[in-house]
Amino acid sequence: LASVEVNLSNIPVGQAVKVMWRGKPVFIRHRTEREINEAEEVSLNELVDPQSDEARVQKKEWLIVVGVCTHLGCIPMGTATGETRGDYDGWYCPCHGSHYDTSGRIRKGPAPLNLVVPTYTFLTDTSVQIG
Ligand code: FES
Repeated sequence: LASVEVNLSNIPVGQAVKVMWRGKPVFIRHRTEREINEAEEVSLNELVDPQSDEARVQKKEWLIVVGVCTHLGCIPMGTATGETRGDYDGWYCPCHGSHYDTSGRIRKGPAPLNLVVPTYTFLTDTSVQIG
């Protein structure tokens, strides 16, 4: 499918889901206040691939990223409830130990780049179209 529509009303704060889009997983996380603050407070000079959180989200509470590690393409852990989210509360790629933060930015490990933000559009407050 060229695009996929996702109903956000079933994703509680603090949880995430994985949807498939063009054969790739896309992670959608309903961020908590704490996760948003963590993402916003990091200074850009601490980042491997410097990008502000503001540049990566359309609505602060919703982080939407392609769930493919930018090292060698494994699918990071941290979407399913109870799965490890790594040292920075985002995602952890177990293949070679890359840690991503609550904005999906690479913080530690061999991955060179942040998780990719796909094209998306909010259709309503509770519905988003990926692609
Ligand atoms: Fe993710 Fe290597 S593929 S750390």
